[in-house]
Amino acid sequence: MNREDFPALKGNVAYFDNGATSLKPKCVIDKIDEYYRDYSSNIHRGEYTFAVRTNKEYDGTREIIRKFLNAKSEKEIVFTSGSTASLNMIAFGFFKNILKEKDEVLLNKGEHASLVLPYLVLQKENGIKCHFAPLSENFELTFENIKKSITPKTKVVALSYITNVIGDIRDVKKITKYCHERGIYVVVDASQAVGHIKVDVEDLDCDFLAFSGHKMLGPTGVGVLYAKENLLKMMSPMFYGGGMNQYFEEDGSFELKDIPTRFEAGTPPIAEVIGLGEAAKYIMNVGEENIHKHELELKKYLVENLKKIDNIILYNETSESGTLVFNVEGVFSQDTAIYLNHYDIYVRAGNHCTKMLKDDLKIKNTVRVSMHLYNTKKDCDKLIEALKNSKDIFKVIL
Ligand code: ALA
Repeated sequence: MNREDFPALKGNVAYFDNGATSLKPKCVIDKIDEYYRDYSSNIHRGEYTFAVRTNKEYDGTREIIRKFLNAKSEKEIVFTSGSTASLNMIAFGFFKNILKEKDEVLLNKGEHASLVLPYLVLQKENGIKCHFAPLSENFELTFENIKKSITPKTKVVALSYITNVIGDIRDVKKITKYCHERGIYVVVDASQAVGHIKVDVEDLDCDFLAFSGHKMLGPTGVGVLYAKENLLKMMSPMFYGGGMNQYFEEDGSFELKDIPTRFEAGTPPIAEVIGLGEAAKYIMNVGEENIHKHELELKKYLVENLKKIDNIILYNETSESGTLVFNVEGVFSQDTAIYLNHYDIYVRAGNHCTKMLKDDLKIKNTVRVSMHLYNTKKDCDKLIEALKNSKDIFKVIL
C-alpha cells in the first residue's frame, strides 16, 4: 500500500523493522523541511510573522492528535520526547505521589522495559509491589489472566495495547471496565498500536496512554502522553523551566501554567511535533482498519509459507497484528539478521527490550518481522525464498 509515498523504499529493500521505527512518507519529511526552511522560530514567545505561524502549526497539531485519539479535549494531550518519557512521567509524576507502601501494580512479562522498569524503581524506592499476570500458552495476555491476578491491593494495571514481540492485541476496553469497577487505574502503552489499529481513548476509557511519533510514520524525538483531564491536573511535572510557569519570585513562590503547557518546559521539539501532526493526518486518511487488514493478510501469508520450511521455529503465529517472531533452528538470531541483510531484507534480532519474555519463551533472542502499510507480498516472498535457502546461512555470512 502507498509504497510510492516513502522515499526510502526506492531501492529493492524489504523493510520489516517497523516495530523499532517506521519509514516516513514524503509529506512528513516535507512538512519538517518547510518549518526549518521557511519559518523556523520558537513557540509562544514571539509576535513576528514566523513565530505566529509556528504557534499556529504547533498548537494546531494538538487538535490533530486529539482527533486522532478521539480525546475529549486538547488539554489531555501532552507532547513529550516519546513513549519512554511519557511512561516515566506517568509513573514518577502521578503514581509516585499517590501509591502507598504495599499497593500493587499489575504488569506482565510480555512488556517492554519502559513500561516495567519505572514501577520496579517505585517498588525498590517506595515499597510498592509489582506483580506479573501470567501469559497464555501462546505468550499472550488474556482478560481471564488479568482478572485472576488482580487482588484487593491492586491499584494500577499497566499494559501494552499491542506488544512489541508477540504482537498480541489486548482487550483494553474490557480490562479497563473491569479495573474501573474496582477503582484500579489503567495505563496503556500504545506504541505498537497507533498507526496499525484505531486507538480511541474515549472508547477504551483508559486513564493514561503513551506513544511515540517515529513508530507511526512520524519523526523521532516526539511522542504523546494522553491522560484524562482530572488526572493530568493531579500530576506533577518532571521538568521545570521556561514556558510552563506563570511567575516565580525571590520569596520562593511560583505558579505553573494550566495543563498541558506545564508539562512542556523549555523549547519543545517543534519541527517534530509539526511532523507528527502530518503523520497522524496521513494515517487517518489511509484508515487504520485498512492498514490492520493489510498487515494481517501479509502475516497470514508469511505464517502459511514459513510453516512449510522445516528448520523455521515460529513463536507467535496466532497473534492478530503484523508482527512475527521466529528463529532458524540452531542459528543465533543476529546471524539470521545478517544473512537476511545480504538480500536487502531488514529485520530486528535480539530480545527487543522485552527481557522477561525469555522466561516463558524459553529462548532469549528471536528474529522479528514487523510490518507496516508499505510492506508487500513481494517483500514476504523475498523473505520466504531467503529462509528456504537458509541452510547456506554460514556460507553467506562468514
Ligand atoms: N521498542 C522498539 C522495538 O521493539 C525499539 O524494537
